[in-house]
Formats: sequence, C-alpha cells, structure tokens
Amino acid sequence: MSSRASVIAGNWKMNGTAASIDRLLTDMARELSGLEQENREILVFPPHIYLQRVVQMLAPSMVGVGSQDVDAREDGAVTGAISASMVRDVGGKYSIIGHSERRALFGESDEVVADKFERCLEVGLVPIVCVGETLQERDAGSTVEVVTRQLGAVTGRVGEKFTGALVAYEPVWAIGTGKSATPVQAEEVHGALRDFLAGEDSGQAEQTRILYGGSVTPENAGALFKQDNIDGALVGGASLKATSFVEICKAAEKV
Ligand code: PGA
Repeated sequence: MSSRASVIAGNWKMNGTAASIDRLLTDMARELSGLEQENREILVFPPHIYLQRVVQMLAPSMVGVGSQDVDAREDGAVTGAISASMVRDVGGKYSIIGHSERRALFGESDEVVADKFERCLEVGLVPIVCVGETLQERDAGSTVEVVTRQLGAVTGRVGEKFTGALVAYEPVWAIGTGKSATPVQAEEVHGALRDFLAGEDSGQAEQTRILYGGSVTPENAGALFKQDNIDGALVGGASLKATSFVEICKAAEKV
C-alpha cells in the first residue's frame, strides 16, 4: 500500500434485518473503539431500505455510509428505483456502481454504469466503480482488456471529473466463492488499471484508490494490502460480522 489513505468498504448486499443491523453496528462500534482512524476510511453499504437508519446510527462515528446502487435517472416514473439525490438526501455520501451482480443479474451495460457514475457526480456522491473479469475471460487471457474497457467507459465519459472517485477490482470468479485472487494476481490487474488511468491523467492515477474485492477475509487481507497498488478492500461476506470486518480494517493499518 502507498501513501494513499486506505479504504475498507463493507458491501452488505441483500442481507440483514433492522435488528441484525443494529447488532452489527453496535458490535462494530465496540471493536473499532480506540482504533486510530488516521490514513484509513471505513465505509458501509447497507440495503437501501436501511440506509437512513444506518446513517443515523453512524452519525457520531467516522464510518461513512453509501448505497449499493443508484438509478441513472434523476427522478420520475421508475418504479422500484432510487435516485442518487435520494441517497444524498438521507445522508449517504458514496455509491457502489457497476457491481458485477448488477451487471449480471440486472443486465447493466458499461453505458448504463457510466450514466450512473455521471449521475453520482452531479449530486456529489462519491462513486466506487466496480470492474472485473469472469473466469472464462481470465482463461481466455482477456482480463486486462475487460477491466480497462469497463473503466474506460466511465473515464471516457467524465474525463477529469473522475478525480476523487474510487475503483474496485473484483474478479467475478472470486466473489462469494472463498477463492480470492492471490496478491500477485490482484496486483497485476491493479497495476494495469493504474497504468490505464495514467494514460489519461497521471496525477489522477497516482491519487485514485483502487480497492480489491472478492473473498477478502482477515486471513488474506494483510498480504493483499502489502501490494503497491492495492489501496483497500470491498468486502462482502466478511463485512457481515463485526469481528472479521474490523480485523480487515486493522490489517490495513498494519501495512
Ligand atoms: P465477497 O463479496 O467478499 O463476499 O466475495 C465482495 C463483493 O462482491 O463486493
């Protein structure tokens, strides 16, 4: 890890109840107490319906809150969707965009991801854009081509306004499988993503935090965070337990 402040983000996906979330946050507060926050950001991404509750509960803490997705449109007749400005309105500051589950289950194209990204910038939400290859794409040797195409759809759209956004490299084959990319595999792709950003704007590339996601655990986090171009993690399963999530946060501190 470099001088860039690290980011540990918990993506809760479609999990939890009001009661279990209250417990998780109470446990997290206990585990996090006394932990030095310097040079590290901790974020959580609850299901939309609990977003406001989580914002309120975390208000006195340093933990930031965001949404797992937003719609690309501003408002109007889009049944079931929520807008980026609604997330802002209830106190969210970030949004995950283009998670592979959204791409696969909801058919989101690179174009739609870029629309959503742009919409986040318009209302002042910090987007975390996810990129990642399937196992088939990796086996075909097209990993870098796929992830730079996915990232390029966004940078091509927003240009220098990309500054301040975050990137998450999440190989699809590593998500929820217990089979994380090795530190070497991940670093290779993170380096390629940073080189790609540098091709567009070198200052921007140096500043951009690139998180790794896909079966991150307290056991493998330390070795991943030691890599030069890995600036933190987007954590799914292990973020649902305060002890494992905070262990991952602590691993970022030790690097
Ligand atoms: P996982 O999910 O940690 O459960 O693999 C990561 C993610 O999809 O963000």
